[in-house]
Order: sequence, then C-alpha cells, then structure tokens
Amino acid sequence: MVSEEQPAGLFSTITVSNELDDDDLLGIVDMLYEEDKRNNPGKDNEDAIFNQMMSFYEDNEVYLWVAKKEGKTVGYGRARITGSRLKGDMIYVSPEARGLCVGKTLLKSQIDFAIAEGLTEVYSCIDDGNVASLRVNQGLGFYVQKVDFGYDVSLKI
Ligand SMILES: CC(C)(COP(=O)(O)OP(=O)(O)OC[C@H]1O[C@@H](n2cnc3c(N)ncnc32)[C@H](O)[C@@H]1OP(=O)(O)O)[C@@H](O)C(=O)NCCC(=O)NCCS
Repeated sequence: MVSEEQPAGLFSTITVSNELDDDDLLGIVDMLYEEDKRNNPGKDNEDAIFNQMMSFYEDNEVYLWVAKKEGKTVGYGRARITGSRLKGDMIYVSPEARGLCVGKTLLKSQIDFAIAEGLTEVYSCIDDGNVASLRVNQGLGFYVQKVDFGYDVSLKI
C-alpha cells in the first residue's frame, strides 16, 4: 500500500508504509537496538533483534509497517491475517517520538490495509496498565473489553 502522511508538529510529517525494503528493516533493527542498549546496559542483543526482525520480514504471513519522521525510523507495526480479521501483533514507537501521532498513524495504516484487503475486523490484546496503547486504539474507535490480564480491543470495518 502506498505510504501515508500525517502532520506531526509544525514542520515535520510522519510517513508510514507497508512496502518495506532491506534498508527499512535495518532502520527498525537500529531503532529497537538503541532502546535495548538503554534498557539492558552491558548486553549486546543486536544479533537477536536482527534475527527476530528478519524472521518476521521473511514470513509471508506477517505484515510489517515502518514509520519515519524526516527520514529517520521512529516506529514500526506488525500484524497478521487470521481468517477474515487482522490481528495487530505490535505497534512500537521510539521513546523520543512518542506523543506525535506516530502510533495512531501506524494503527490507521493497518486499518486501511484491512479495508483494502476486504477484511471485517481489526483486533488485538493490550496488557493491563498500557494506557498509551489503550488510548491509541480508543482514539480510532476500537471497542474495548476488559479481560483477565488486560483488554481485548476490536474495530469492525
Ligand atoms: C503505545 C504507543 C505505540 C503509542 O504511540 P504514540 O505515537 O506515542 O501515540 P500517539 O502519539 O499516536 O497517540 C495517540 C493517542 O493516544 C494518546 N496517548 C499516547 N500516549 C499516551 C499516554 N502515555 N497516556 C495517555 N494518552 C496517551 C494521545 O494523547 C493520542 O490521543 P488522541 O487520539 O486523543 O489525540 C507507544 O507508547 C509505544 O511504542 N509504547 C511501547 C510499546 C507498546 O506498548 N506497544 C503497544 C503494545 S503492542
């Protein structure tokens, strides 16, 4: 699907695309590695992060989205089709780009993809306490249901 843009502040735009190439994949790995280094000082998990992202990239059943701001990778999304529905597996935004509509633009792009594919619903599970993720989904009209360890969210399309 062709990339999508949404204003993010006065002078920058967020671009989201699900047509990833090798450089996009490496951009996502770099972004995840940066946060992992902050969270796990002294550990080098770059190979593990690369291998995991590569396995998603090569899996025909996994769909990936990349979000960029002024050319820099600031987020990514992951989903898979289950029957007639799209299951959102992950939306991640780098800490320095949070609150700029990146997550919302990624999720909106997943919804647009599901519509284009003729699917009937987009859904995912959110852990207890993940207010940011809940708000992103609620902002786009997802129905929220409390379950044991968090929330099920779904949007009929
Ligand atoms: C959840 C996450 C993707 C949100 O991305 P983001 O780009 O910061 O969110 P956005 O800027 O698009 O915000 C969308 C809406 O959520 C609200 N929101 C975002 N973060 C929030 C927070 N911490 N508290 C309250 N509301 C929040 C925004 O105000 C905005 O509301 P609006 O639609 O009324 O304007 C991001 O925090 C993240 O990557 N977290 C770590 C990974 C994760 O938990 N992913 C989800 C589970 S797979």
